[in-house]
Amino acid sequence: MTQKRKKITVVGAGFVGSTAAHWAAAKELGDVVLVDINEGAAKGKALDLFEASPVEQFDSRVIGTSNYEDTANSDVAIITAGIPRKPGMSRDDLLATNSKIVKDCTEGIAKYSPHCTLIIVSNPLDAMAYVAKKVSGFPRNRVIGMAGVLDGARFRSFIAEALDVSVKDVQAFVLGGHGDTMVPMPRHCSVGGVPLTEIMPKEQLNKLVERTRNGGAEIVNLLKTGSAYYAPSASAVQMAESIIKDQKRILPCAVYLEGEYGVKGLFIGVLAKLGFDGMEKVIEVKLNDEEKAGLQKSIGAVQELVTALKL
Ligand code: LAC
Repeated sequence: MTQKRKKITVVGAGFVGSTAAHWAAAKELGDVVLVDINEGAAKGKALDLFEASPVEQFDSRVIGTSNYEDTANSDVAIITAGIPRKPGMSRDDLLATNSKIVKDCTEGIAKYSPHCTLIIVSNPLDAMAYVAKKVSGFPRNRVIGMAGVLDGARFRSFIAEALDVSVKDVQAFVLGGHGDTMVPMPRHCSVGGVPLTEIMPKEQLNKLVERTRNGGAEIVNLLKTGSAYYAPSASAVQMAESIIKDQKRILPCAVYLEGEYGVKGLFIGVLAKLGFDGMEKVIEVKLNDEEKAGLQKSIGAVQELVTALKL
């Protein structure tokens, strides 16, 4: 029998992974396979989620497994496996541990789904996407890092809250790496189509930019035992949805650059079009001097991490 429904694998049954499985199943993006080395956690959470389907009325089969064979012929695989940071840690402190984990997961997925699109969520994001690309040998359109959608969503929620308007009418994006050097782009924010810079005083806007940069740490400091998961998982699933439904949405994501913004061979957050072929196009934005300098700094930080990987 040929496979008719789309298939989404989520690697890592922790908070980010299980919540991603939840969003994907609830949106009926396809059948969902939740993978974890802790087989009981994967199976238990998957079964629990499947048992919610008659109540929530979604037709998505959800299974849990520790065996990559069960992930065969996935259309999209979202890799969330890895340890999260604790208060006082930066995403970069996770490099050594998570690069080994991401390598193993990528090998498992690439073996059974050689044509899938990988969405990497594990941190430090830009370096982990690099690991996944190297290990899988996939072309750049099939390996994408999730960060910009999350950072942009944080920025958009803060703006909507500050102006007391619907989040739906706030457009904003963030470029660069998913770290302290990320580059929120206030010049390109708009509310109902009106440039934000025209309706919000610079000082207030700068505060929101700063809060966005520290958005991940803000949650880590509150939770104390882990990092954010609702917004990160929702963001990864929005990317998966754009690919699976060939929506061709323009979303900020970490892309392996091949000359765009003068960068070659690094994953950097840029605006990209996501559709059936994965990352279908990089949209290059004209930057002013301040933005260029910010992006350069961010590129330098990602380069340092990738060098430390010694791949
Ligand atoms: C964050 C983590 C997931 O930004 O990177 O919350």
